[in-house]
Amino acid sequence: MTDKNTDNKKWWKSAVIYQIYPRSFADSNGDGIGDLQGIISKLDYLENLGIDAIWLSPVCKSPQDDNGYDISDYQDIDPMFGSISDVEMLIQEAEKHHIRIIMDLVLNHSSDEHFWFQEAKKSKENPYHDYYVWRDGVEGELPNKMRAAFGGPAWEWVPEIQQYYFHQFSVKQPDLNWENPKLRQEIYDMINWWTSKGVGGFRLDVIDQIAKEPDKEITNNGPRLHEFLRELSKETFQKADLVTVGEAWGATPELAKLYSNPDNSELFMVFQFEHICLDQIAGKEKWDLAPLPFLKLKEVFSRWQKELYNQGWNSLFWNNHDLPRIVSRWGNDKEYRVESAKMLAMLLHGMQGTPYIYQGEELGMTNVQYTIEEYQDIETQNLYRERIEKGYAKEEIMRSIYAKSRDNARTPMQWSDGEQAGFTTGKPWMRINPNYKEINAQAQVEDKNSIFHCYKTLVEFRKKYPVFVDGSFEMLLEKDENIFAYTRDNADAQLLVVCNFYGKTIAFPNEIQKDVMELLLCNYGDISNPSKLRPYEARMYFLKK
Ligand code: NOJ
Repeated sequence: MTDKNTDNKKWWKSAVIYQIYPRSFADSNGDGIGDLQGIISKLDYLENLGIDAIWLSPVCKSPQDDNGYDISDYQDIDPMFGSISDVEMLIQEAEKHHIRIIMDLVLNHSSDEHFWFQEAKKSKENPYHDYYVWRDGVEGELPNKMRAAFGGPAWEWVPEIQQYYFHQFSVKQPDLNWENPKLRQEIYDMINWWTSKGVGGFRLDVIDQIAKEPDKEITNNGPRLHEFLRELSKETFQKADLVTVGEAWGATPELAKLYSNPDNSELFMVFQFEHICLDQIAGKEKWDLAPLPFLKLKEVFSRWQKELYNQGWNSLFWNNHDLPRIVSRWGNDKEYRVESAKMLAMLLHGMQGTPYIYQGEELGMTNVQYTIEEYQDIETQNLYRERIEKGYAKEEIMRSIYAKSRDNARTPMQWSDGEQAGFTTGKPWMRINPNYKEINAQAQVEDKNSIFHCYKTLVEFRKKYPVFVDGSFEMLLEKDENIFAYTRDNADAQLLVVCNFYGKTIAFPNEIQKDVMELLLCNYGDISNPSKLRPYEARMYFLKK
């Protein structure tokens, strides 16, 4: 078995992956919803950016209760996105642009409209019944107090069979029962079918929740999780040169080492969220806002970089379809939007791991502030209803929604300053962010000083300089309240990244030897005064070895 974690030649180790949220990316047929042909029409743009693979959020058949994360047929495409032949075409066309397609596997739950569930709820004797997680009960007396992630109890009553089913997300997303070997085999067959179509890999939705044990109130990291993952990998991923990334909200570095273990038995990397959860009140919900503890952010990144070095593999991300836009979150989306978006990109892309760029991040797209009626996301709508019932003030709820709603990431991609930002010729499924005249792809592709070009340069660096891929990590100035600085080191080179994380001009730290450095990149273009760091100024240097 190859030692995947110390073999830095693996394609996905120097890869940069771009996430597409299909309904918001590009609409080819004017129905207001992005689709597969829309993605095909933008492959030149993505090749220009330099990315190696696309992670495609779900496009399988779905009633869209949770925008496709509720799948009713894993081997068919939802007509709103196109057809199986469109996916096949996407895989082939993307290959011509040197881009692989990574599919999103939602294996913790299906839609309640999936054939399996339709059968499962017919009777306890039905062969599909045990594909889901059921508990006997008395109507009105829930098996326990567990709550679903989108609000309400995690149990739903089915009167026909006098049982509750378990759902960690919406009522339309019943949890699959991984204890059942027949279900597991169906899943492996489905994955192998997708592999045979030539996909480049898989992103595994909430994969650390599949081994749940609701009687013990266990959701993440259940006792059988790693056993299930090893079997899954052996029966599917290990048969081809695929990349796999698991979404694991409950991951610690110790667990991540197991998932991305050098023996190649589970996954290649996980999305962990320790850095992402810092700006919320500890122990509360993400909606309970707290300022970002900057020193803690540095400590978290540093720990992950060091712990996984040669023992696992990090994924690097600020954004995805569930998170607010990073420039609005920890940057400054007004006066210093361009500078802070580039600083955040440089800070992240200098680290070890596989970087992910979420659509529009490369343009510095921002959060929105819509009326509650305009929000489409089930989580946002449920939160609003729940908190109104609990007596929260409307303004306070809206403040949380502006800061954290998933729809911040889901507004349509801003392609141009034309009608509907060039996203659709029809009426978009969600309102376009009104700042599209200023922030759009067309303008940025033409402007060599744009955020887009900064990302493109960072992608190039990863291909050109092995130290970006294999260098060891050292955090500098750990206690500095403004500066995020670190080095990366290998036998041939030493990279230094220095970022002013805030909007005030500060002194360049004396501890760092300016006279032995060669500038690689500065987000302001050039350095006006080597001794000062302007607001959000970021620099990448090579230190003379
Ligand atoms: C995580 C996905 O990223 C999110 O969008 C979805 O709602 C949940 N998993 C449930 O599938």
